[in-house]
Amino acid sequence: MHNRTVITFGTFDVFHVGHLRVIERAAHLGTRLIVGVSADALNMRKKNRAPVFSQAERLAIVGSLKQVDEVFLEESLELKRHYILSYGADVLVMGDDWEGRFDEFRDICEVVYLPRTPAISTTALIEKIAGSGLIGMPGAEPALSA
Ligand code: CTP
Repeated sequence: MHNRTVITFGTFDVFHVGHLRVIERAAHLGTRLIVGVSADALNMRKKNRAPVFSQAERLAIVGSLKQVDEVFLEESLELKRHYILSYGADVLVMGDDWEGRFDEFRDICEVVYLPRTPAISTTALIEKIAGSGLIGMPGAEPALSA
């Protein structure tokens, strides 16, 4: 395969297998994978809550994956075009929860929406753990604190 740079974006908080699958599939679409990890401040604006893991931790986790060649901090949703161009991305990959929302970038790269892994999300995990009764149990805290 000739050189093909793929770029994708996400929060990747409380890293789970759905995140891994989308990264694996994105990596298969090219020869180099760049991941924009969204900044804590961007998440506050977007989701109205701070991520469980800080941007430095999320960058470290995603950046350590063998499929990922480079990570960077996504500071603003409005900078997508700039990021795509500055990393020389040939393909933009997004989960199909974003279907159609990034078609405006088809003038500068290929845009691919991948189906989400069913039945798992960071939000569902947080709710499951919070509802499990584990948090607050004596001795349970260290396992969950960073
Ligand atoms: N993703 C996926 N399958 C899942 C969950 C996420 O393919 N089950 C993909 C998203 O489509 C996106 C990337 O993983 O391309 C990062 O998603 P992110 O929003 O960080 O993860 P979610 O688990 O969806 O987080 P939240 O519940 O906070 O929305």
